[in-house]
Amino acid sequence: MQILEATGPRSLANFASCWLCALAHLLITGGAGFIGSHTALVLLEAGHSLVVLDNFSNSSPESLRRVAELAGLSDASRLTVVEGDIRSAADLDRAFNAGARPALAPKSIEGVIHFAGLKAVGESVQEPLRYWDVNVGGSRSLVEAMRRHGCRRLVFSSSATLYGYPEAGPIPETAPVQPINPYGHSKAAAEQLLADVAGSEPGWHIARLRYFNPVGAHPSGRIGEDPGGTPNNLFPFISQVAVGRRPQLQVFGGDWPTADGTGVRDYIHVMDLAEGHRAAIDRLLSHAPELLTLNLGSGQGHSVLELVRAFEQASGCSVPTAIGARREGDAASTVADPSRAATVLGWRTRRSLAEICRDGWAWQRANPQGYGSPTSA
Ligand code: NAD
Ligand code: WQD
Repeated sequence: MQILEATGPRSLANFASCWLCALAHLLITGGAGFIGSHTALVLLEAGHSLVVLDNFSNSSPESLRRVAELAGLSDASRLTVVEGDIRSAADLDRAFNAGARPALAPKSIEGVIHFAGLKAVGESVQEPLRYWDVNVGGSRSLVEAMRRHGCRRLVFSSSATLYGYPEAGPIPETAPVQPINPYGHSKAAAEQLLADVAGSEPGWHIARLRYFNPVGAHPSGRIGEDPGGTPNNLFPFISQVAVGRRPQLQVFGGDWPTADGTGVRDYIHVMDLAEGHRAAIDRLLSHAPELLTLNLGSGQGHSVLELVRAFEQASGCSVPTAIGARREGDAASTVADPSRAATVLGWRTRRSLAEICRDGWAWQRANPQGYGSPTSA
């Protein structure tokens, strides 16, 4: 792995050749983050060569060092990391021009997976302009750079948050897009931007992937989710209670119209999600231009208390809970209809809730303070 810092190379390139030249040369924005790092690993294991562009505003380069280690990369030939911002044309050009391409078939970036963005709902209410700037402005800069560099294949990280308060039952992609917070608005706007671009000129291959609730970690426990500060989401909160970093979980409402009164979500193992991205980019690389919109979820709903019990079982630790008030903006139940992704990509989730908890616990136990842990090196 080589890292190109904003100011210059940290280590010199070793452009060893990749003999599998049918494999693609891809740009991953936000590839050091939670979903990006797991996807980068799956893509490297599939033989692709990657340039990661990340400003490390919510991640650490350590995740990518571990990705390189897990992928068994013995040199810098297939992973180049560019430290930079998706809102900067110069940083994007550096990424498009960076190494990691097979030496025997030099070619430019053939596809982009765009994870970089901000994702905290509460923060988006406080700082909506930042969310529009990074999530919408950043996507616009990226698309402009793709046009400059002749690349028209893009997988975009969208979110089930677009569905707002959905009707009861599994949610198909045809459900109304009616976000209820600035984060959701920014994702809806970026989706619309991509549809407008695809409609304005021929040749674009775009997949807008709407994730439900990504959780868990790589089974090695070497990479995982590393939220800064107090976690906003349920799964990392439960993990931190189990490992002793927090005393108890506050359950946001016990009076929802669900079987046990707690909120129901569609939790998807991050490795299943990563494999969904591989399926999506493979599809874009091999099919005619198209604009896809796909839910990535399991189709199974689990309540807060079910997840707590599954985590206790996997970890052998107790997770004390207290039922509190509902959180503003929450829906009772959000579960994907993932059938379109199965038809179009031939992809479906394979991992159970028990595996999600086992792997999430492997990460949390080995890295109690995330990538910053003194015991995690
Ligand atoms: P993450 O914060 O772990 O990863 C995002 C990465 O983007 C980080 O490494 C961060 O440093 C980087 N980044 C942020 N702003 C940047 C900028 N201006 N320039 C360059 N890099 C920048 O988040 P994640 O959970 O991996 O989510 C990835 C994507 O998936 C996001 O777009 C998010 O909105 C979307 N998504 C996440 C979830 C979820 O629950 N995790 C659900 C649905 C959709
Ligand atoms: C899950 C359930 C809570 C925390 C959010 C974003 C969404 C997407 C995924 C990016 C709910 C309950 C939670 C806690 C609790 N992210 N809960 N105590 O709300 O489905 O979705 O993350 O796109 O945009 O909104 O996920 O993990 O926050 O909550 O009881 O401390 O857990 O009420 O029922 P959510 P979550």
